Amino acid sequence: MIDSETVIRILHLEDSDLDAELVEAALDAIGRPYAVERVMDGPAFAAAAQPGRHDLILADFVLPTFDGLGALMVAQAQCPDTPFVFVSGTLGEETAVEALKNGAVDYITKQRLERLPRTVLRALAEAQAKHDKRLAEAALQSLNDTLEIRIVERTRELAASNAALQTQIVERERVEEALRLAQRLEAVGQLTSGVAHDFNNLLTVISGNIEFLAREVTGERSQRRLALMKGAADRGANLTAQLLAFSRRQRLAPTPVSLNQTVASMRDLLQSSMGGAVRIETTLHADLWPALVDATQIELVILNLAINARDAMAVGGSLTIETANVTVKAQPTRPEEPVPGEYVMVAISDTGTGMTPDVVKRVFEPFFTTKEVGKGSGLGLAQAYGFVKQSGGGIRIDTIVGEGTSIRVYLPRVTGRMEEFAPGPMPGVAVEAPAPGREAVLLVVDDDTAVREITVTRLSEAGHVVREAGSGLAALSSLEADPRVDLVVLDFAMPGMNGAEVASEIRKRWPGMPVLFVTGYADTTALMKVGAVGTDNIVQKPFRDGELERKVASALVNRTPSGLRLVSGSAGRS
Ligand SMILES: Nc1ncnc2c1ncn2[C@@H]1O[C@H](COP(=O)(O)OP(=O)(O)OP(=O)(O)O)[C@@H](O)[C@H]1O
Ligand SMILES: [Mg+2]
Repeated sequence: MIDSETVIRILHLEDSDLDAELVEAALDAIGRPYAVERVMDGPAFAAAAQPGRHDLILADFVLPTFDGLGALMVAQAQCPDTPFVFVSGTLGEETAVEALKNGAVDYITKQRLERLPRTVLRALAEAQAKHDKRLAEAALQSLNDTLEIRIVERTRELAASNAALQTQIVERERVEEALRLAQRLEAVGQLTSGVAHDFNNLLTVISGNIEFLAREVTGERSQRRLALMKGAADRGANLTAQLLAFSRRQRLAPTPVSLNQTVASMRDLLQSSMGGAVRIETTLHADLWPALVDATQIELVILNLAINARDAMAVGGSLTIETANVTVKAQPTRPEEPVPGEYVMVAISDTGTGMTPDVVKRVFEPFFTTKEVGKGSGLGLAQAYGFVKQSGGGIRIDTIVGEGTSIRVYLPRVTGRMEEFAPGPMPGVAVEAPAPGREAVLLVVDDDTAVREITVTRLSEAGHVVREAGSGLAALSSLEADPRVDLVVLDFAMPGMNGAEVASEIRKRWPGMPVLFVTGYADTTALMKVGAVGTDNIVQKPFRDGELERKVASALVNRTPSGLRLVSGSAGRS
């Protein structure tokens, strides 16, 4: 920065001492400090003309061994930023123009040295302006350069957050899809369980009456017709049982099960269901944890999965059943998948057709099948899904079209001590008949008259004294009027006061009075609330193979003695 205090550094090319003095005298008129480095010939000038060393160059035009234009060229080459002014005796117009063209900023004749101060100041100001401009340009350039870097960085940041956002969107869509699937299955489950419940009541009436008729009808043809009807009713009952399994309202009796044993014991059955073209291999883990599941249902599930595998291997192949202890760490991404935890796994894999993504999406829906009419009802996997979920496990499907399918079933492992699961008395074993001398009095409570009629008839035929009530309230007033009842046989789903409410009222007012639930489905949570969790005090509708009679007899034997028993006077019965 040039200011009035700064010394102006001048390189002066001049061979004449006198002229040099005249020039300096003219410079004095600037009124600012200055320092002159004087040189007299080419080599000295070339040595002195260094960038940044001077603020200004003054040069004579005609020298004995050198000339002004030569000096100008040296200056242009070595210190192009230092302003160059000719101070010369005579300078023709042409030469002057030539000089300016070549980069001199001005020229002054020695006859008019009074112009020198102004010229010097202007040259310095222009040089300063040029310098400032260059600085500004450099600053701008560097700003531009960093701007590019900043843009590149910012673009990269944006791209990264965009990618993150995309991942989030995909993840959200996946979660929403899983939720939709779960809700769909849930809705279908509610619907099916409602339908199944009503059908079970109808089937109870149908099967019961078929049974009664079969005892009365003698003709062979009529008997055959009744047998056909019975078969159809049984198939209906199987179907509703599958629907209930899907909607997770199946009655389950979880016990510790060695799945290795289950698989081993099913080998013959599986081999005969597979036919000759399918090879069966088993890989059973040696130290398999016991699973806590319903032993019969898990067999059904394995059989169902094996039959699906067989159907997918029409031309033959191999079926592999594998067991393993598995710790699941990942969160489920589909409704059927297990939540993190420890599981006993059984995997059924085939080398069959595999499934397309569209099929996989729907396999758990009841009635979804790709098989011909009559070949599949589409309930196998729905049943497996409901059962496994109700048991607290999960399922995973891995499938590749054209290569095969592997379905892994995760079941809860037994936690806690094994003794807690010591088997109770086997259902169905012969139970003691009620003590002789007095018939047991039963109160049958059911809002459905036709169903109640079947229940009452069966139990009367089994030798019990049966009272009836068409609602929970009616049952309570009947008990109030006469509490001499040995067992209440209570329908679970009734309008108004439901079975659970009636049971807890009975428990309050007549503690110790045993209750046997009859249900078209087992709403496990509600039944658990009233303490009826064992399978012994629940009878499934429609009644099968004398289950009602057996459980009634069993409840009469197992009931705890209570104040009411005094009425019966048979202290020996407990
Ligand atoms: N191992 C498998 N390989 C290829 N496709 C399969 C396999 N298991 C199931 N599927 C497909 O899933 C559909 C549904 O199976 P699911 O077991 O629920 O019903 P289904 O076998 O058709 O009838 P059901 O089991 O009631 O007799 C099948 O129709 C089939 O398309
Ligand atoms: Mg199937």
